[in-house]
Amino acid sequence: MLKLGVMASGRGSNFQSIIDSIKTGYLKAEVKLLITDNPDAFAIKRAQENGIEHLLMKPSDYASKDEYYSRVAEEFKRRDVELVVLAGFMRVVGKPLIDAYPMRIMNIHPAILPSFPGLHGQKQAVDYGVKVSGCTVHFVDEGVDTGPIIIQAVVPAYHDDTEESLSERILKQEHRIFPYAIKLFSEGRLRVEGRKVVVDAPRDELQLIINPPIQD
Ligand code: GRF
Repeated sequence: MLKLGVMASGRGSNFQSIIDSIKTGYLKAEVKLLITDNPDAFAIKRAQENGIEHLLMKPSDYASKDEYYSRVAEEFKRRDVELVVLAGFMRVVGKPLIDAYPMRIMNIHPAILPSFPGLHGQKQAVDYGVKVSGCTVHFVDEGVDTGPIIIQAVVPAYHDDTEESLSERILKQEHRIFPYAIKLFSEGRLRVEGRKVVVDAPRDELQLIINPPIQD
């Protein structure tokens, strides 16, 4: 069973979708530890309600960014975590964690990368006036949302969308593709070749994930 470590800064709805996917048996995994940088993160409540250990680790309590991420890596290693999942962790991860988990850290981003990286991907998309947006799960490298892409899902973007309405449409897909990406990883169906992730899954399965039927 795949041992997961999760990092989250806020609401934690993606964290919840992972917990729920484990509960239904869709995902054969176990969350060993939640690390959060925010004492008010609702993700902490979700961990407590599900009997998942959590640690509050604030970067400001450490001498440097490197020191912080070395300690984070240590905590995950101590619990034999195999894959680190960034579920709304609002910071750029430091090198010591990336070196400890090369191509073993996944992030979810609320835009179709490489468009609109960084903060407020949905607002960037609305302001730009695109007609398609969506979300991306990717492996984490040292850049901001630049790592190899595992899976993406598209949604329509309408002229009268607000940041909120587009975010809501995208979030529904986040909750599908993040567990799916973790499942692929847990089943050994992902292989990284340079910038590309080779996904061992049938085309019709991928197509439904990438281009799902949208209701609104
Ligand atoms: C999501 O939109 C995710 O794509 C982004 O941060 C948000 C986190 O939401 N990285 P939640 O905390 O999982 O509800």
